[in-house]
Amino acid sequence: MSERLYPITIEVNGTQRAGHVTARTSLVDWLREHLHLTGTHIGCEHGICGACSVMLDGEPVRSCLMYAVQANGHRIVTVEGLQRPDGSLSVLQDSFCETHALQCGYCTPGMLIAAQALLNTNPRPTEAEIRDAIGGNLCRCTGYQQIVEAIALAARRTAEGAT
Ligand code: FES
Ligand code: FES
Repeated sequence: MSERLYPITIEVNGTQRAGHVTARTSLVDWLREHLHLTGTHIGCEHGICGACSVMLDGEPVRSCLMYAVQANGHRIVTVEGLQRPDGSLSVLQDSFCETHALQCGYCTPGMLIAAQALLNTNPRPTEAEIRDAIGGNLCRCTGYQQIVEAIALAARRTAEGAT
């Protein structure tokens, strides 16, 4: 017997996306496999690493821990949604490049989501607030210092008028 499918409509990066999913389809699998938004990474698949982070109604969440049906009617932003409208890097993304805040890049989408969610609500965070905001995201390469510097740089640039 085939599994029952449920209709969903979710705003993803500003566009309404509709589909049919099984009750056990995770949000990250729907984003990656059905919408082909593969910028969101899968690491641990049980809520530890943060690589799968996306914004749900402005709040960072683990998309490996959510079912797609739970996001029905909500607003999702993935790492692809952080770029400027013309496709160029955002201030935050450019700051990650500038400070060498990534090596293998596996954690980077989740770090960018956590950082952007912080900057959206707290545009001038302290170092402690930055470290707290990315505290749920694991990076095995950088030692975190350059990531913290990147987020602080993005905050400074934005305060100086960068968009
Ligand atoms: S893949 Fe979701 S928290 Fe690690
Ligand atoms: S850059 Fe490799 S895990 Fe963070």
